[in-house]
Amino acid sequence: MITKEIKEQIKKIVGPENVLDSDLDRFGYSYDSSFVPLVPANKPEIVVRPLTAEQVAAVMRIACANRIAVTPRGASSGRTGGSIPLAGGISLSLDRMKTIIELDQENMMITVEAGVLTGDLYNYCAAKGLFYPPDPASYKYSTIGGNVAENAGGMRAVKYGVTNNYVMGLEVVLADGSIINTGGKAIKNVTGYNLTQLFTGSEGTLGIITKVLLRLIPMPKVRNTLQLMFGSLDEACATIHKMLQSGIVPAAAELMDKISLQAVARHRKLEIDPATEACVITEIDADNQQGLAMQAEQIEAIAKNFGALAVRIAQSAQEAEDIWAIRRGLSSAVGAMAPDRLGEDISVPRSAFPEMVRRIRAIGEKYELTIAVYGHAGDGNLHPSILCDLADSEQAERVHKAVHEIFAEALAVGGTLSGEHGIGITKRPYISSALGEAGVTTLKLIKQALDPQGILNPGKIW
Ligand code: LAC
Ligand code: ZN
Repeated sequence: MITKEIKEQIKKIVGPENVLDSDLDRFGYSYDSSFVPLVPANKPEIVVRPLTAEQVAAVMRIACANRIAVTPRGASSGRTGGSIPLAGGISLSLDRMKTIIELDQENMMITVEAGVLTGDLYNYCAAKGLFYPPDPASYKYSTIGGNVAENAGGMRAVKYGVTNNYVMGLEVVLADGSIINTGGKAIKNVTGYNLTQLFTGSEGTLGIITKVLLRLIPMPKVRNTLQLMFGSLDEACATIHKMLQSGIVPAAAELMDKISLQAVARHRKLEIDPATEACVITEIDADNQQGLAMQAEQIEAIAKNFGALAVRIAQSAQEAEDIWAIRRGLSSAVGAMAPDRLGEDISVPRSAFPEMVRRIRAIGEKYELTIAVYGHAGDGNLHPSILCDLADSEQAERVHKAVHEIFAEALAVGGTLSGEHGIGITKRPYISSALGEAGVTTLKLIKQALDPQGILNPGKIW
């Protein structure tokens, strides 16, 4: 319970205008981009918008002394409910912490505050010829702090990895209000446990990430985008598989099935050839035009060999951007197709990808459900999305069975529950099946050590 006195103390720290407590504001911070149903209980008591790590620390000291729940929040673009305050208390928004602190060109590293938008970070580096590769579909509006807290993946994982491959160090405010710095600019570092990686992907449950040190790489000299259309999902999967086997490592290789394509087409008023059953969008990059053209030719040849209906090679940066806009808007377009959407985030070994797609289709047929299949085929991360109406209890029953089977099949082929969205609220019921009881107990012991009162993002992960 946040008393009037506590509220006054917090206002003194961050300024009265940065403590929001109107009904409307509290409502605005009670949901995120997941499909977790809106319930009044998820409203925070207050929203606090600090400007510095010291302010975050002072707020945490008060929360710790009074056992107040604190749910950190970036841009609320998460898909598993990570920033929804399940226990009232404080919604701690890092959106004012937007400073790019230092670009160290010599070491190719950048230090930024947690609230910097990933897209702004990308553009800032790109202007200096440096490349921050991870690009979750939300990168234009998601924050780097949120990306680190969720260990966000995105389109370029196939060639460049995910967020944790770039995080060199963090500034973190702990549950008791102390501030620690992990990692650093030294490339080799085995001084103690790897806390940087522990906090990366910890979903706001172990500490509040306030500052991030990232490594960068040189910007590829040239890049291009190809869009490949197929008459079957199998051919699309086979093309991606063959591409990777042939030693072509695209920066991105995305797959969309017909249902996903129709969703975007409806949204963006595009015409799609009715024979199209699958679409692959791939980004390639290279040191020079010749290398780029060679990759494009090879991909075109492989696609045609597998019966591609159409191969489009972007002729301008604008055309490439237009093709990617189709993919970036996909998740929202698919979500708009039905009253409810259960979007999954399974990740399987690359070699199992075509088989996993077949199994999902079979599950859809078995339970007579519409499942849109799209995802990051190049790295094996799939977002099967069940389009349904959960108000229909008979249908809801089938949906839940299908979700269980999708997870079971993902685990059976050597995969995992979540590739890039985390566990949050929506995947909680399944964590034991993925990690085993001893695995979950180990996570809980770490949580207990760092947050003994359980005030940091309560109710998430398990
Ligand atoms: C995507 C997000 C939802 O791939 O992860 O579109
Ligand atoms: Zn994704």
